[in-house]
Amino acid sequence: MERELALEIVRVTELAALASARWMGRGDKNSADAAATEAMRMMLDSVSVKGTVVIGEGEMDEAPMLYIGEQVGNLQGPEVDVAVDPVEGTELVAKGLNNALAVLAVANKGNLLHAPDMYMDKLAVGPALAGKLSLDDPIEVKLQTASAVLNKPLSDLTVMILDRPRHQELMKELRKVGVRIKCLSDGDVAGAMAPSFPESGIDLYIGSGGAPEGVLAAAALSCLGGELQGRLMPSGEEEYKRCVRMGLKDPLKILTMKDMIGEEDVIFAATGITPGEFLSGVAYSPGQRAETHSIVMRAKTKTIRYIKTLHYLPNKPLLQSMEQII
Ligand code: FBP
Repeated sequence: MERELALEIVRVTELAALASARWMGRGDKNSADAAATEAMRMMLDSVSVKGTVVIGEGEMDEAPMLYIGEQVGNLQGPEVDVAVDPVEGTELVAKGLNNALAVLAVANKGNLLHAPDMYMDKLAVGPALAGKLSLDDPIEVKLQTASAVLNKPLSDLTVMILDRPRHQELMKELRKVGVRIKCLSDGDVAGAMAPSFPESGIDLYIGSGGAPEGVLAAAALSCLGGELQGRLMPSGEEEYKRCVRMGLKDPLKILTMKDMIGEEDVIFAATGITPGEFLSGVAYSPGQRAETHSIVMRAKTKTIRYIKTLHYLPNKPLLQSMEQII
């Protein structure tokens, strides 16, 4: 993949964020998602790739666009796998809460895991803990090791986890060990990325969330030098068989970074829709301008770029055509 692709890709997440941000706080997560999906789909047409969506809005019969297997791009560049989440945190946009992102990752064809839409148990860490923990370690062992490696007492460690009833037992164990806990209401791509940003104050991300989000987070962490381990959690025989049909020989094995993103050449971009831990949200200013904040990174070079863009909205024909639809 050419490095210029990074800048083409960030234009896609910017447009998705701009389209979705109009829906902030309007209590309508489906419209927020539909607007971002449509914007992302249209903008992808200008990107110089022969892309196949491997993580998208659903199977072909479930999603009108950005469905799994859909061909995207202007079909003139390299063959790539494309993973998208036009709105990561639809509920966050609907309620006007922090941390909603438009997210996209691209890798050479055949490298991104085609993750089934089910839960994945996850452990994500930043560079200092990469390679030091196992998803299979009991929680207490994980925390003791993290405490030793980071040279922090357990009472100073901060663990992030989705605030869900299914995590009650895990929370009890965390409290017993005596670490600090930061709960997330939604958006575990940002959650899994948090330990890789020292300013977040988060040391570990644990717990279950969406498997597709796990692959997107692994793509981000491969650029940031962190690590994500995951294990799919098929809820019954049917989901287990789906994993096998999707090519996973052993659906219950720990998925490593290599299993999820293959060779280390991934480009990852995210644009803030609502304000978040490491990216500001879309902000509108006088003169029909809107500001977006994005991160775009490449695993091969480990370059991390923050891009602040001041858009002039009348010059965004794609967005204008959509706003008439809205
Ligand atoms: P959506 O944007 O699809 O609503 O996903 C938000 C999210 O919080 C993800 O970040 C996370 O992986 C998943 O939902 C967790 O699922 P659940 O809400 O069922 O616990």
